[in-house]
Amino acid sequence: MSKKAASIIAGQIRSKPSSVLGLATGSTPLGTYKELIKMHRKEGLDFSRVTTFNLDEYYGLGPDHPQSYHRFMEENFFSKINAKKRRVHIPDGLTKNVGAFCLRYEEMIKQSGGVDIQLLGIGRDGHLGFNEPGSSLGSRTRVKTLTEETVRDNARFFSGQEKVPKLAITMGVGTILDAKKLLLIASGQVKAEAVRDSVEGPVTSSVTASALQLHPHVTCVLDEPASRLLAQKYYYMYVEKVAETIEAEARI
Ligand code: F6R
Repeated sequence: MSKKAASIIAGQIRSKPSSVLGLATGSTPLGTYKELIKMHRKEGLDFSRVTTFNLDEYYGLGPDHPQSYHRFMEENFFSKINAKKRRVHIPDGLTKNVGAFCLRYEEMIKQSGGVDIQLLGIGRDGHLGFNEPGSSLGSRTRVKTLTEETVRDNARFFSGQEKVPKLAITMGVGTILDAKKLLLIASGQVKAEAVRDSVEGPVTSSVTASALQLHPHVTCVLDEPASRLLAQKYYYMYVEKVAETIEAEARI
């Protein structure tokens, strides 16, 4: 899953070295970042002209807080590639004026030319970024209250559930849908229901990832357990095979 996701992102960077990447945190993208780091070291994958925007950050955590997404990105990705600091953007969890900050974040994304490819994980409740169930499918960058389930899920990174911030700054569903391409990655059986509801269920703000169905260019990279409940799974695999065959024939 990670290799496939990394190869899609690398392909984007190679075809447009000044690509704008939307990035995610959490356990799922760790392998993708490792693969991209490997490509940077072994194949010279160049991030020097890339611009990045992260989906979210805990509200109230500064960049030096060990559980902040600033720190996560620095430790797991940015310190190991050649991205330029001035082109890296992560929401400021300590902003004094959160409304103005969120508007500015949206504006910066627009000024950059828009996100070329947005990497996404998915929560067990079907959230994208921190757009918890009930988030408007047209929402923009703002502060959201995390559900108790998300707080419990993320407690593994903190020294106790009570330490997990209850609020986060997150790109909205509308912000995410503005990206030119979306790349959703999910692994493990715990994500199977959320994946099924997002890909095959009705489009509803109760499962914000179902908004992916409204986007013209989405790729879902799933491992076997995460795809287990998809009713059309074998059709999707068949579609991929047919596409590969046509590509191979075109190369002959
Ligand atoms: C984090 C984010 C979240 C995670 C989701 C899954 O930037 O946007 O939506 O992608 O909570 O987290 P993991 O990958 O830890 O299961």
